[in-house]
Amino acid sequence: MLKTEEIHTYYGDSHILQGVSINVKKREVVCLLGRNGAGKSTTIKSIIGLVPPRKGRILFQGEDVTRLSPYRKVWMGMSYVPEDRRVFSQLTVEENLEVALMASRRKGSWTAKEIFEVLPTLYKLRHRKAGNLSGGEQQILAIARAILANPHLLLLDEPCEGLAPVIVEELEKMILEIREQVTILLAEQNASFALRVSHRGYIIEKGRIKFEGTKEELTKNEEVKRRYLAL
Ligand SMILES: Nc1ncnc2c1ncn2[C@@H]1O[C@H](COP(=O)(O)OP(=O)(O)OP(=O)(O)O)[C@@H](O)[C@H]1O
Ligand SMILES: [Mg+2]
Repeated sequence: MLKTEEIHTYYGDSHILQGVSINVKKREVVCLLGRNGAGKSTTIKSIIGLVPPRKGRILFQGEDVTRLSPYRKVWMGMSYVPEDRRVFSQLTVEENLEVALMASRRKGSWTAKEIFEVLPTLYKLRHRKAGNLSGGEQQILAIARAILANPHLLLLDEPCEGLAPVIVEELEKMILEIREQVTILLAEQNASFALRVSHRGYIIEKGRIKFEGTKEELTKNEEVKRRYLAL
């Protein structure tokens, strides 16, 4: 589904990603773990095309998309929820979801009603203007919108950040429910959450992949546990 081959990404002269290769198969949930500044967001931004790599290739569904714009990639079926989620602040929660459904190119298996069933928090807020929601509530709305758009590949940058534990639980439940239908790459600092919802993971440090493995391999590896997971 998605493959990055030795990508090198820069901000100006700063060489941030130094040969990052990751691979996400269809219907897999893969997490990218690492500390602050490790390069998680930069990897996601490289993939969606906001900061294209200077070297290396990105393949999406077998096609070389390295130089394509974010707009083209969204059109091809990638969906991206950035760290600073964006919602339509003048629309209600329900209207935000309707817009996402209208914008969806593919017929999805998810409806707003089903989203509300898994996310009771969002249901309670359905008539509120999105602009009046808390940061965490906007975050969950942004993720719900991305899911309704029914992408081939969902890129989530730190979905847990700023969420209250009860909303993290809802998010976990939602990801576990949609896992069969969607492919997800998520960047997270919250390793225990990430490993609960993921099949596999990569650990990135200073722009390089240090470890990769299944959830079981990562949680069994003493060095990984001690240095990166803080489990
Ligand atoms: N726009 C930018 N211009 C210059 N340097 C940047 C820019 N964005 C990020 N960086 C640098 O790139 C490195 C990787 O940042 P990145 O945002 O990818 O980290 P991260 O793993 O997502 O961290 P966090 O967990 O804090 O979100 C950091 O050293 C950061 O300071
Ligand atoms: Mg980040």
